[in-house]
Amino acid sequence: MSMYGRSRVKVPASTANLGPGFDTLGMALSLYAWIEMEESAETEFHLYGDEMAGVAKDKSNLLYQVAQMVFSEAGVTIPELSITMYSDIPLTRGLGSSASAIVGGMAAANAMIGSPLSNAQLFDMATALEKHPDNVGASLFGGIITAVWDGEHTDYIRIEPPEELEILVVIPEFELSTSKARGVLPSQITVGDAVHNISRTSLLTAALAAGRLDLIGRAMQDRLHQPYRAPLVPGMEKLLAEATGHGALGIALSGAGPTLLCMVDRQESRKPELELFLKQTMEEHGIPARTCWLLPSSSGVVAERIEINQMQNESFLDMIKGEKHL
Ligand code: HSE
Repeated sequence: MSMYGRSRVKVPASTANLGPGFDTLGMALSLYAWIEMEESAETEFHLYGDEMAGVAKDKSNLLYQVAQMVFSEAGVTIPELSITMYSDIPLTRGLGSSASAIVGGMAAANAMIGSPLSNAQLFDMATALEKHPDNVGASLFGGIITAVWDGEHTDYIRIEPPEELEILVVIPEFELSTSKARGVLPSQITVGDAVHNISRTSLLTAALAAGRLDLIGRAMQDRLHQPYRAPLVPGMEKLLAEATGHGALGIALSGAGPTLLCMVDRQESRKPELELFLKQTMEEHGIPARTCWLLPSSSGVVAERIEINQMQNESFLDMIKGEKHL
């Protein structure tokens, strides 16, 4: 009954800032959400996965909302949608779940109607919603993104992540909203702190582009947001100070937190020691936490449209079977 067909999307999680690159640097991670979208007689939601509990199942749902923005931008009207989603991306932990939903929902809606909007247009629209381009850029394009938003338009360069790079995250069992973690930031900083961050962000970007893993630890230092956010995440100060002594190349708060993210050389022999150090430090501070090994995701969002006359039989849940889950 639909003239538009069904879209299927796989979208990666992301980490933002990488330490000093506040609201600028992002990296896609090998942790994913999958979305299916098609026109329907009435709007309905099929949400799977532990992370989906509590997500709205009415037209206030973020996927529904961003889909309508895409339709409106493209000049089409599709008021009723069937939306299916499975996500492994923890909510409000600093792993870009809202950016993944925005990018995934936009890509699904765009693919459904034959992809009239370019990725550059989707990037501008997604950044206008998030107010910073780091997470949405990474989810959209994959790899490592350095981006600038002027309030209307985003300019960016995508960097292919160094092959030797592996990621270890420690995810505390508590939620921290981005607005709370932004609320503790100062409105003014010294020129000294600004120079500290500009120089390290530049060095980190160049080191990642050049594959200079030896420079990552020193380049990941930050004075712009992490010192102010540390009181919100018990154990963070110790982790930032000591993780490189346990085998991490560098460590940072992932986005607005509370997850912390270590960059690790794949060849590193002390991986179990590092994992134990992260978990034990959180526990010492009374915070249950889980660790997870990930890779940078080279691919960003992937969207396909399935025409009605060649609708595949593979079910949504079959599609995500065999993929890595948290
Ligand atoms: N750059 C953002 C921040 C990412 O650190 O607040 C969180 O969404």
